[in-house]
Amino acid sequence: MDKKIYKKLISNHGMGTVKSLGWSSIESQHKRFEVIYNNRPEAATSLLDVGAGYGDFLTFLKFQESTFDYTGIEPFEPFYQEAVKNFGEEFFRNTDLMNYNPKRNYDYVIASGLFWRDVEDWNDIFIRSVEKMMCLSRLGVSFNLLSTYSNAMKNPKLRYSNPAEIVELIGALGEKFMLIHNYHKTNKDFTCVLYK
Ligand SMILES: C[S@@+](CC[C@H](N)C(=O)[O-])C[C@H]1O[C@@H](n2cnc3c(N)ncnc32)[C@H](O)[C@@H]1O
Repeated sequence: MDKKIYKKLISNHGMGTVKSLGWSSIESQHKRFEVIYNNRPEAATSLLDVGAGYGDFLTFLKFQESTFDYTGIEPFEPFYQEAVKNFGEEFFRNTDLMNYNPKRNYDYVIASGLFWRDVEDWNDIFIRSVEKMMCLSRLGVSFNLLSTYSNAMKNPKLRYSNPAEIVELIGALGEKFMLIHNYHKTNKDFTCVLYK
């Protein structure tokens, strides 16, 4: 997690805004939440939100009148503090994925926007993160990635993934998965759901 990037986004767009999380609009953030939520494992009742930001997925769940038992983890202190201010301490932990070793598991482990920055060891970080999410989950895992099929202008600082290559990687982790690539007009990202 690059603190400098989020500090800059906060100073440009203001605390509490979707743009300070790196998103272009509330609509696109919600569309991603919808895809993650609508494809949840049927029996799931507990959820871990990895990289929870301000806890906006919890707001989304409340709108669905969902009774999910929610926990969000967020390593960037200013986002974490804001989430706690909005919802209370019981829902959030100020930690990153690799250092989170809870005594319990979660039915559904999700991450929206975790893998978008391009970094040298992206492949390794991606695989280790998805493996860790699988370890923490009982029924399934979901995350989104920017797509090489995007029709939107590409930003060289971001990581665009080829869905076929991602299928190779996640297929090695389990044979039941879904790849959803039809929810943005510009095809800018896609969502993977892995079922256990
Ligand atoms: C693009 S923002 C999305 C926030 C939120 N998921 C949403 O959709 O509103 C990505 C978030 O992931 C967090 N993050 C980055 N690396 C992380 C890691 N290794 N473990 C947990 N969270 C991480 C960032 O601090 C940031 O809040």
